[in-house]
Amino acid sequence: MLELRDLTVKIDGHVVLKNVNLNIKQGQVHVIMGPNGAGKSSLALTIMGHPDYKVVSGDILFENESVKQLPAFERARKGLFLAFQTPPEIEGVSLTTMLRHSLKSLNKYPGYKQFMQELDKQAMLVNLSKKLLGKSLNQGFSGGEKKRSELLQLLLLNPKLAILDEIDSGLDVDALKALSNIFRARKQASRSCLIITHYSRILNYVKPDFVHVLINGEIKASGDEHLARKIEEQGFKQFLK
Ligand SMILES: Nc1ncnc2c1ncn2[C@@H]1O[C@H](COP(=O)(O)OP(=O)(O)O)[C@@H](O)[C@H]1O
Ligand SMILES: [Mg+2]
Repeated sequence: MLELRDLTVKIDGHVVLKNVNLNIKQGQVHVIMGPNGAGKSSLALTIMGHPDYKVVSGDILFENESVKQLPAFERARKGLFLAFQTPPEIEGVSLTTMLRHSLKSLNKYPGYKQFMQELDKQAMLVNLSKKLLGKSLNQGFSGGEKKRSELLQLLLLNPKLAILDEIDSGLDVDALKALSNIFRARKQASRSCLIITHYSRILNYVKPDFVHVLINGEIKASGDEHLARKIEEQGFKQFLK
């Protein structure tokens, strides 16, 4: 579904990703772990098409087609989605309005009544207060509310591939349990996930197919969930040798 081939990326002349290779198949869950500044968010933003991140060499393939020249909205149309580590605040645009327009541009808008019903139902599922749905996006939202708002977007848009950048930070146990159900449902529907984190805690809520360690912009190791346990016990230093 998503393939990164020897991807090298610069921002402001500074190399943030070096020869990254990754192959995420339909229905798979991949976890990327790495310390602060490793390049995890850069990877997420590059896949999604943030214009500041310049692909110096290599390619990004989504469903066997290169998307590296496409603007972010076209990647989103193809079924890519990013839950931001730091969700942006957008004055004057509510979550409801944004989701309505997003669904329309994806040709998935079910009509006003059904949309509002679905929005209410899913907001309840992620425990996001209804009064936030009509307010300016993320403005005045707490850290946890911003993450729940990202989860609500994930549920409504139901993308083929979801990249979740530190979705677990700031979520309480109830929200993590909701997240666990979301992962299960996505797996059943053969939808893929790329989970970015620096804690192995999220692995109590999802069983990954692969775990990768990203340090200084490079993938230093790949394995299964045992790799995450090893990181928990011994930290990231073991990969620097
Ligand atoms: N806009 C930017 N300009 C220059 N350097 C940046 C910019 N954004 C990120 N970086 C650098 O890229 C590296 C990786 O950052 P980031 O991808 O945010 O790491 P992580 O998400 O793993 O904590 C860091 O060294 C950071 O300082
Ligand atoms: Mg980050």
